Amino acid sequence: MSAISCNLTVLQQETVAPDIRRLTVQWQDPRHEPHAGQFYMLRAWAADATPILSRPISVNDFDNQTGALTFLYQLKGEGTHKIAALQPGQTLTVTGPCGNGFDAAALAGKYQRIAVVGGGIGTAPLLLLCKELCRAGVRPDLFVGFRDTTYGMDRFVPWCRDIYAATDSGKEGHHGLVTDLLDVSKYDIVLTCGPMVMMRGVAKLCAAAGVPCLASLEKKMACGLGACLGCTCHTKIGPVTVCKDGPVFNAQEVFD
Ligand code: FES
Repeated sequence: MSAISCNLTVLQQETVAPDIRRLTVQWQDPRHEPHAGQFYMLRAWAADATPILSRPISVNDFDNQTGALTFLYQLKGEGTHKIAALQPGQTLTVTGPCGNGFDAAALAGKYQRIAVVGGGIGTAPLLLLCKELCRAGVRPDLFVGFRDTTYGMDRFVPWCRDIYAATDSGKEGHHGLVTDLLDVSKYDIVLTCGPMVMMRGVAKLCAAAGVPCLASLEKKMACGLGACLGCTCHTKIGPVTVCKDGPVFNAQEVFD
């Protein structure tokens, strides 16, 4: 389904962790409903104001009954700070939903044992993924890695079979890497989103065990629509745009 550009009303802005915010807006177009792994280009400032580029932020959750559309994002620069300053009733300008996303219905139809693996803010798009998989008949196991403490995990509970957490500091969960917790041979497929080093590690484990793996990549974006080629990534199948051909790719095609 193609992306549209529109203005949306902010419903809620919440602080989830010191530098993590959850923004909920009212989506209005039932013909263009977002799915897991897709993203929107967000703008909380005028077209001629800085920063020049809109910010690509993945869909964290979507309620297809009410149209409530949620983004979980990290405060990283001028753009995300401007988005964080929005209050209920104010307007967010968006283009989306963009990208291919995960086809949860097809995945749940083909695979029974699914592991979902996320790291840090890369866990954001995995909430809607787990929800869509669960609704399609497969309750996935979730593996997450964070630096110090987890955040946003309570919302995963209804949609996941088991949740395994690791932190770099050992403050919460397993002290070490999320990949320490993951035995990929127990799964029919692994779906991942997070830091490149983590996804590369997951892809390597999957390749060694002959388990398929899909990875959602992140890249700086300008248009978000496949027009500027600014997010081109060189893969084993040739150059691809992360925003339009992805962000979800077969991990064996993008990682060595
Ligand atoms: Fe323009 Fe991807 S951001 S082609």
